[in-house]
Amino acid sequence: MNQELNPRIVGASPAGAQDRESASAAVREMFTSIAPRYDLLNHVLSFNIDRLWWRRTARSFDAILKRPHARVLDLCCGTGDMTFALRRRANSGTQQILGADFSHAMLQRAAAKGKSTTLQPPQWIEADALRLPFPDGYFHLVTSAFGFRNLADYDAGLCEIARVLAPGGECGILDFGEPGGLIGQCYRVYFKKVLPAIGTVLSGVRGPYAYLPASVERFPSPDEMLGRMHQSGFREVSWTPYTFGVAGLYRGVKNDCHRSEAF
Ligand SMILES: C[S@@+](CC[C@H](N)C(=O)[O-])C[C@H]1O[C@@H](n2cnc3c(N)ncnc32)[C@H](O)[C@@H]1O
Repeated sequence: MNQELNPRIVGASPAGAQDRESASAAVREMFTSIAPRYDLLNHVLSFNIDRLWWRRTARSFDAILKRPHARVLDLCCGTGDMTFALRRRANSGTQQILGADFSHAMLQRAAAKGKSTTLQPPQWIEADALRLPFPDGYFHLVTSAFGFRNLADYDAGLCEIARVLAPGGECGILDFGEPGGLIGQCYRVYFKKVLPAIGTVLSGVRGPYAYLPASVERFPSPDEMLGRMHQSGFREVSWTPYTFGVAGLYRGVKNDCHRSEAF
């Protein structure tokens, strides 16, 4: 963990990062370096449970996804698995489903996967989650799966999500947690020792799989995260643990500040 970072900014801090910009650049380089093997590693290291988590998250937003003409953004979409899960739940094709990520290599993989689906493929946008190229109040749903934790400034990320959401629109952040009890103890051995070793061998790159457990340890607790969401303009905030809390879904509804824009 880098002690030089502004202590008021809570965000990802990969090794060597000096400030928000260098932290973001290091994160982008890291994901670009593992992009070719990202999907394989994800499925092997999570025993394929990640597929259930993406599906469960998408299903929990059915009320929005089934609306015709809903506009949905999957932030930090990587190779697009969460985005495709949203697309499948939306199914009618009239909804606008976008995936955004700042790693070109990850997006290339997402786009390639889209070619082999019979569904209308999502649109892919290369963009930084802290400076999104969308107007205020544009989306009805913004999700992020295992991406938000990598932002260099969590409060700025939440404010940017709130900015692009329409009042009454919803946010869903799926990310890792730290389970308690005996399950937590066993899981920590796997997550901190076994996973980095296997990840390093399969990817051929050391940094990212040592960074993963460190970033989860650094991530705010569910209570703190819900407080930050509340302060950033969300109401009805909640956290639902998945698989004993190994992962979990944060939800919030954007405050209604402009009645006329609500949907
Ligand atoms: C762990 S991957 C998650 C990918 C995908 N959502 C999934 O569930 O497999 C994290 C992704 O977040 C992206 N990311 C991290 N910080 C970002 C930022 N500031 N702006 C855009 N993308 C970012 C990375 O490039 C990477 O593709």
